[in-house]
Amino acid sequence: MCGIVGYVGPGDTVGVLLSGLKRLEYRGYDSAGVAVLDGAGEVSVRKRSGKLARLTEMLEASPLEAHGSGIGHTRWATHGGPTDANAHPHLGDGGRLALIHNGIVENFAELRAEVEAAGVELLSETDTEVVAALLGIEFERTGELESAFRTVVRRLHGTFTLLAMHRDEPDTVVAARHNSPLVVGLGEGENFLGSDVAAFVGHTRRAVAVEEDNIAIITPEAVRITDFAGDPVEFEEYEVAWNADAAEKGGWSSFMAKEITEQPEAAANTIRGRIAGGEISIPELEALGDEVLRNADRIVIIACGTASYAGQIGAYAIEQWARVPVEVQLSHEFRYRDPVLTERTLVISVSQSGETMDTLMAVKYANERGVTTVSVCNTQSATIPRESDAAVYTHAGPEVAVASTKAFTAQITALYLIGLHLGRVRGTLSAEDQAAAVTAFDELPAAMTEAVETHEQLAQLAHWMADTRSVLFLGRHVGYPTALEGALKLKEIAYIHAEGFAAGELKHGPIALIDHGQPVFVLVPSPRKSPVMHSKVVSNIQEIRARGARVIAIVEKGDTSVLPYADDVIRLPLTDALFEPLVQVVPLQWFALELSQAKGLDVDQPRNLAKSVTVE
Ligand code: M6R
Repeated sequence: MCGIVGYVGPGDTVGVLLSGLKRLEYRGYDSAGVAVLDGAGEVSVRKRSGKLARLTEMLEASPLEAHGSGIGHTRWATHGGPTDANAHPHLGDGGRLALIHNGIVENFAELRAEVEAAGVELLSETDTEVVAALLGIEFERTGELESAFRTVVRRLHGTFTLLAMHRDEPDTVVAARHNSPLVVGLGEGENFLGSDVAAFVGHTRRAVAVEEDNIAIITPEAVRITDFAGDPVEFEEYEVAWNADAAEKGGWSSFMAKEITEQPEAAANTIRGRIAGGEISIPELEALGDEVLRNADRIVIIACGTASYAGQIGAYAIEQWARVPVEVQLSHEFRYRDPVLTERTLVISVSQSGETMDTLMAVKYANERGVTTVSVCNTQSATIPRESDAAVYTHAGPEVAVASTKAFTAQITALYLIGLHLGRVRGTLSAEDQAAAVTAFDELPAAMTEAVETHEQLAQLAHWMADTRSVLFLGRHVGYPTALEGALKLKEIAYIHAEGFAAGELKHGPIALIDHGQPVFVLVPSPRKSPVMHSKVVSNIQEIRARGARVIAIVEKGDTSVLPYADDVIRLPLTDALFEPLVQVVPLQWFALELSQAKGLDVDQPRNLAKSVTVE
C-alpha cells in the first residue's frame, strides 16, 4: 500500500522522487503526488488521482525546478476516495509545510474537530490532512519542526509512517513510524527515506531500518534517529542485497512473467548454504537452541493469501518429517479467536513483504504471549523478521508483481527446509526421508525450469479460453492448497470467478457446479510416488468428465492414465510427492498471466490490490 519517498540533497529532487515512486508502484496505489521546495524557497505540490503517468504529465505541463528537500507519495485510498484533493502531500501552516502518510489515524475524527475548532479549513476527506494541520499548529507554537513533529506523532493512534518538511527548515525531512515500514537510504551528501528500499536503491544500497516508534531526521550531511521522547537511538546500516536491475523488467512483458521464470533460481538461492554433506541445517534456527525445537508440541503457521497456501503446503511436510501437529491460521483470524498458546507452541509466520499488517499484529500478539516466533520472509530487515525470535529468509530477490509467484515457491522451499531441520533435531527424520529430500532439492531447479517451459502451451490454452467466466481447480493432499493458489492467481489478475477444491470434497457439494464445458484444472499426483492418491484423482476426473467438464490435467510425464478423460494434458517432470506443488503451480501461474493478458488487463498491478497490505 502507499509508497513513500523522501529526499534531501543537491540532486534533481523531482527526478529522484519520481524514480522512487516508479519503483514503489508495485505496492498498489490510486493517486500520486510530490512536494518540493521550489526556486523561491516555497513548498510546491503537484498531485493527481490515477497512475503515476498522470502526475508526470502534470509535471511536464507545469514543471517544478527543485534541488533540495522533497517528499513523494503513492496513495492507496482509505479515508476518502482516490481524488486529486485526497491525494498526498497535504499542506499545513498555511502551505508552509507538506506531509505524507501511510497507514490509518484512528483518532482522526477527534483531531479533525480540534483543528477545525482552531480555525483550520480542511480541503480533503483524509485523516492525513488533519495531521498536517496539527503539525502546522504545533510548528506555529514552537517554530521548530522536529519537536513539533514529535509532539504530534505522540498524539496519534493507529498506524503510520509520516514524512514532513517545512519551508523554514529547507534542508530537513523528518519521518516517524508506528506499525508501518520506514527505511533510510544513506548517500554521499544526500540522504533518502522510503517505505522500502526500492524507493532509493537506484541511488544507494546503504540502508538503515528505522525501528518501531522512532523518528528519523535527515539532512544532506547527517541522519539522526530518536525515539518518540526525543532520546537518541543508535542504528546500524546494512547493505541491500539486490541492486536496482533486479527490480527492472529486463525485457519481459511484465514483472510477473519475469518472476515466474526466476523461480528455479529463487528456489536454488533459498536452498543454498542450508544443505551440506547430505544434511539439512538452518543456522538461523540453531540460534534458538535445539531445546525449544525439541520441546515444541504444536506449530501454528500464520500468514495471509498466497503465503497462507505456502503455509498449508509446508504443514504437510513439517508434520511428516518433524512429527509435530501443525495448523495454519489466517493472520487476521488468529489473534481474535483467543488462540490456545503455551510455551511449547512455535509460531511460524510466512510473509513475502515482511510488512503485512495482519501478520505483523499476529506475530506481536504471539510475542506478547511468550511464544517463540520464527519468520519466513523475503525482505531483508522488514518489520516481521525483526519482531521475531528467528528469521529464515527466502532468497527470491525483489518480487514486484502484485501476484506472488517466486515468493510462493521460495516460501514452500524454506518451510520444507525448516521441517527437515526440525525433524533432524527432534530425531523424527529417517535417513531415507532425509536422503530423498536432499535428492529432491538437488533436482528441484531443473524440474522447475521444465515447468517454466510449459509457457507456450498455457498461452495457447488461455487464448482459447479468453471468454471463460469460471474456472475450477482440484487437488488432493499438497495438491489441494496448490489448487487454491491456482484459483487465487486467476481471481487476482484475470478477474474471473475461480475456486479451488480438495478433489475428495467434490461429491459433498461442489460437483453440482459442473456443467457442460466447465473448465477444471486437475492436479494429478504421480502414479509412481503416490499410486493410491493417483487412482483416486483419476476417478474424480472421470466423475467430472461424465458431467461435461472440460478437463485440463496436470500430470507427471509418462502418465497416460488420464488421456481418455482429459481435454488437455500438461506434462511435468517427476518429483518427490511432497515437492509436486513446486512444479505444478508454475503452469497455473502462466495460465493466469496469459488469461489476464488476453483480456487486456494490467498483469502486474491488478485493480483494487496492493502488493504490501500495510493496513488491517
Ligand atoms: O507480503 P505477504 O506475503 O505477507 O503478503 C500476503 C498476501 O497479501 C499476498 O500473498 C497476496 O495474497 C498476493 N497478492 C497473492 O498473489
